[in-house]
Amino acid sequence: MKLFVDTANIAEIEALLPLGIVDGVTTNPSLLAKVGVEPRGVLKRICELVQGPVSAEVVATDSEGMVREGRELAAIDPNIVVKVPFGRPGVQACRALTKEGARVNVTLVFSPSQALLAAKVGASFVSPFVGRLDDIAVPGMELISQIVEIYQNFAFSSEVLVASVRGPMHVVEAARIGADICTCPPKSIESLFDHPLTDIGLEKFLADWAKAQESID
Ligand code: E4P
Repeated sequence: MKLFVDTANIAEIEALLPLGIVDGVTTNPSLLAKVGVEPRGVLKRICELVQGPVSAEVVATDSEGMVREGRELAAIDPNIVVKVPFGRPGVQACRALTKEGARVNVTLVFSPSQALLAAKVGASFVSPFVGRLDDIAVPGMELISQIVEIYQNFAFSSEVLVASVRGPMHVVEAARIGADICTCPPKSIESLFDHPLTDIGLEKFLADWAKAQESID
């Protein structure tokens, strides 16, 4: 399963890259607004840093506007994936942009029927939001199972990009279900490393080694 980082913060991306586990980046208007820098410049810099898909979202609400903005975003870098919100205009824009050769990520997906429609119009990525469903007491990971099953039934090529991740268990569950990608805030990626027994074990190995007064080199 691929891991994307869900941030527009360059420093956060730079900190994670040396670990060699980041396959792409997702941004959204809220994340770009949070960094407060000119969005085109930020997206360009992210594309220079990361050799993988970088989602950049349109803010128009009509399909023509989405297509116009999508073309502008796609022109920034070949790695840009145009993100459009699910809905009638978004579905129409996805079809148009896909026909022109752009890759599209359909976002704000909260039901299997929405995911089915996004796949039918050729979305390269479909982003179901698990955390926001959990927040309203609807099990987000059940939606992932349903979408993976539907896409397998019909061999759709859209990749299931699990979004709105809140912690390591969302990542583990996504991998068990067979989702293609999980996009995570940096904190959730960091938490994938942690286990207290690893820390305790290492401490003991090093203490025993120090007691024996040995040296490897
Ligand atoms: C990513 O594509 C989404 O925009 C993001 O994961 C949303 O996460 P949130 O629900 O934590 O805002």
